Amino acid sequence: MGNHEQLRNFDIHGFQTSLVSWFIENQRELPWRESKDPYRVWVSEIMLQQTRVDTVIPYYTHFMREFPDAKSLAYAEEERILKAWEGLGYYSRVRNLQTAVREVVEQYNGHVPDTREEISTLKGVGPYTAGAILSIAYGKPEPAVDGNVMRVLSRVLLIREDIAKAKTRKLFEDILYELISKKDPSSFNQGLMELGALVCTPTSPGCLLCPVRTHCSAYEAGVQQELPVKAKKKKPSAKQMAALVLKNEKGQVLIEKRPDNGLLARLWQFPNVETASKGEEQKTELKREVDDKFKTSITVGMAIQSVQHVFSHLIWDITVFEGTVNEKIHESETRKWVDWNEIEQFAFPVSHQKIIEANREMR
Ligand code: ADE
Repeated sequence: MGNHEQLRNFDIHGFQTSLVSWFIENQRELPWRESKDPYRVWVSEIMLQQTRVDTVIPYYTHFMREFPDAKSLAYAEEERILKAWEGLGYYSRVRNLQTAVREVVEQYNGHVPDTREEISTLKGVGPYTAGAILSIAYGKPEPAVDGNVMRVLSRVLLIREDIAKAKTRKLFEDILYELISKKDPSSFNQGLMELGALVCTPTSPGCLLCPVRTHCSAYEAGVQQELPVKAKKKKPSAKQMAALVLKNEKGQVLIEKRPDNGLLARLWQFPNVETASKGEEQKTELKREVDDKFKTSITVGMAIQSVQHVFSHLIWDITVFEGTVNEKIHESETRKWVDWNEIEQFAFPVSHQKIIEANREMR
């Protein structure tokens, strides 16, 4: 710590002052900025990982109404929590959050720890979240480095290290221990985030409106558009899938719960299989696999919809078929026959919500 070459001849105090006063005057009014309650800050930071501010706002407001404090979340039913998170994606975030909040209630008497060492032991609390909670809720001079912050600082300090690498995040953290305002760490960190969101944007940054332009080496050199340097991720691979809206004689549909682990764990879905083909053959594959799984014989009808869903690493290309049962399929913990008008009580992945949406007229 201390004496980074990147900060040689850098006006640390001037930068802090410009950034903090700009933030205080120009920050957006956001629901999580109304209180410094560590629990509320925590929930907002978890939601904001991988998800845009505009998307998060209504979820956050609703979530706070449902689970206003650590205790109410700690002991809530998982189904309720998943329902409140439905559509936000990356569902392990909220499962880990509940586990961690329960630990806070049971081991810390409901007080979110205020040291990096302790808070980092909580499930799902990585270096970024730890720094965000410590600075915003507790006013501690701890760095909170996410992609936005790396973009801003790579430009201001003209750092060309690959931000996809873990050791680059570490470098930014080290630099920030020296750079962060000790007087107002909360406004300093949020100022970096806000600058990244509103001014120092990925493409065509608004340098002419930037409060720290006079401190920015990339601006001075005219290379702001070239930064940050980020190694290209490989393209997400596409998976062909067939899903089934399977009806019984009462017009109910069959839904099943996904496994306890892995992608979209424990969300509900329509029965589906990965297929090698598309078209008529896909239908045959679907029937074979579903018959096998349910130890029965179903009739698969027409393809009624096609749904695409892009994850960070994967694309689902789903053809949806309708189908009917020829023999009874029994319910279990993880398999239910439901009426269309009660289906909304269950949490589904976004791709399967689209299937529900398309069948809305069935209600
Ligand atoms: N992105 C991550 N944390 C944020 C916050 N506290 N406010 C706005 N955007 C954010």
